[in-house]
Amino acid sequence: MKPTHTLVAPSILSADFLRLGEEIDAICKGECDYIHIDVMDGHFVPNLTLGPVVIEKLSSLTNKPLDIHLMVENVPFFVDLFLPLKPAILSVHIEEVKHLHRLIKHIQSCGTKAGVVLNPHTSEAALEYVLPEVDLVLLMSVNPGFGGQTFIPSTLQKLEKIVKMRDKLNPQCLIEVDGGVNDKNIAMLKEKGVDMVVAGSYIFNSKDYAKAIASLR
Ligand code: DX5
Ligand code: ZN
Repeated sequence: MKPTHTLVAPSILSADFLRLGEEIDAICKGECDYIHIDVMDGHFVPNLTLGPVVIEKLSSLTNKPLDIHLMVENVPFFVDLFLPLKPAILSVHIEEVKHLHRLIKHIQSCGTKAGVVLNPHTSEAALEYVLPEVDLVLLMSVNPGFGGQTFIPSTLQKLEKIVKMRDKLNPQCLIEVDGGVNDKNIAMLKEKGVDMVVAGSYIFNSKDYAKAIASLR
């Protein structure tokens, strides 16, 4: 069933890591729909973040579903590292996977929804043969690696095209946008048909997380 409102997934990359438990609590009280977790390996992107040990602890604090975004090389290895945490969604970059169809089926066979991620430079054409199989398409609206970057406007054109492809090939598939999302661009994203947005700095730099989440929803 398609959601009736825009789903909001705060990216904890912008949270205060010294108070991570309290930060998770605050976004859950603020009624986020998912918790977005950015996994970076220092190879696919020039940054390092969280591993399964920390994420397992975090997930024990909440029953909100986890939306894990893998920005890594050696993707099948990391998929198997994170699947035991039973995330609701596990997304992999289309640019980095050799046997994408096989990996999607593997993720789904473990009861997790499989997402594919497109970098800002990757054409929607890359989705043609895989869109019917996936549960989610994640469009990067910044170059992956860091929070707090500026939204890349060409994402809107790509979103419009992918919404059309999705409606034709796989109407149940969700479309998520990640990077630089805030109260200035959310209306345009909704107009183009986005189902779910990730927001890091916009939510965690605000004084009132619940209000920031509500403004995107
Ligand atoms: C970037 C990450 C994003 C990022 C979003 O590589 O995938 O999830 O943390 O943060 P903001 O909303 O600050 O761009
Ligand atoms: Zn992300």
